[in-house]
Amino acid sequence: EVAPMDERYEDSFKIGAAVEPYQLEGIHGDILKHHYNSLVAENVMKPEAIQPVEGEFNWEEADKIAAFANENDMELRFHTLIWHSQTPAWFFEDEEGNPMVEETDPERQEANKELLLERLDSHIKAVMERYKDDVDAWDVVNEAIADEASNEEGLRESEWYQVTGTDYIKEAFEAARKYGGEDAKLFINDYNTEIEPKRDHLYNLVEEMVDEGVPIDGVGHQSHIQLDWPSIEESRESFEMFAGLGLENQVTELDVSLYGYPPEPAYPTYEEIPDSLFETQAERYDQLFALYEEQDADLSSVTFWGIADDHTWLNDRAEEFNDGIGKDAPFAFDTEYNVKPAYWSMMDDE
Ligand code: XIL
Repeated sequence: EVAPMDERYEDSFKIGAAVEPYQLEGIHGDILKHHYNSLVAENVMKPEAIQPVEGEFNWEEADKIAAFANENDMELRFHTLIWHSQTPAWFFEDEEGNPMVEETDPERQEANKELLLERLDSHIKAVMERYKDDVDAWDVVNEAIADEASNEEGLRESEWYQVTGTDYIKEAFEAARKYGGEDAKLFINDYNTEIEPKRDHLYNLVEEMVDEGVPIDGVGHQSHIQLDWPSIEESRESFEMFAGLGLENQVTELDVSLYGYPPEPAYPTYEEIPDSLFETQAERYDQLFALYEEQDADLSSVTFWGIADDHTWLNDRAEEFNDGIGKDAPFAFDTEYNVKPAYWSMMDDE
């Protein structure tokens, strides 16, 4: 049996994996126990999974993940309290069931805003009261920043934003502090946090929150990255910027795709991926983990968005852009759970 990844990095940060409940058992469960000391739900703690209908909460699947983390002494990240995606439509419908974003009357717009913020509060309350003692870090708001800014602050024009402006962000953090208590570690989470101008828009928002005393503890860098993008230098700068605000950094959804975006062409089968690409990926992981170790004062956790190459959301993307056929291979374990060159480069002591 090969040496555990989490032990290799135990003096620096946690090593986590995103999981579906079925992966808590069998071979996946064994790998989790051996190599990882932190867990996050890939889907079952998202708003649509937890509160599909207003006031009706579904805890069963989420509970399994929390229980596994507890039983195996692992940290747990909660993903995610507030997001524009995988959130049921009812959140954004007015009392008559019409989409709030279509309202034109200013008085009714104001009423809608109040209603939406009440829903935000009650969702956060229910979730945090249940998992307060289990969770070590909370993704309070996910993906609030736009890729291509159409407003000055660079904020994503989600339904949350259209109905409440930036209030939803601040109120979400206030509510999370209120229900999660002083010890709850509260994160804003996003992808492409290395890339300008998105990085700067995120920085400006977070700086404003810090200045205004909005309770925020850290920045989650999703890190859905590629073999040569973004550069190590860009990643380093981003970590340093947020650490400079006194915040903790976490890498929350790491995967190193073999492709660009969109991922086309993609290799049609896993077997056709050339070994040379796995070697290139290993070099990339080597550099990344060297950077992470360098940052360990402010970087508390590194979570992969999956366990092994048999299960990755990047395959959905590879298929989407290649007529339904395509495989990616982002992790340290292959589709048969053997270690890849990426594993060895991460475990290297040099
Ligand atoms: C993805 C999951 O991996 C997929 O299974 C699901 O179909 C869509 O969501 N950013 C996030 C994650 O914050 O929640 C997303 O997870 C990947 C991108």
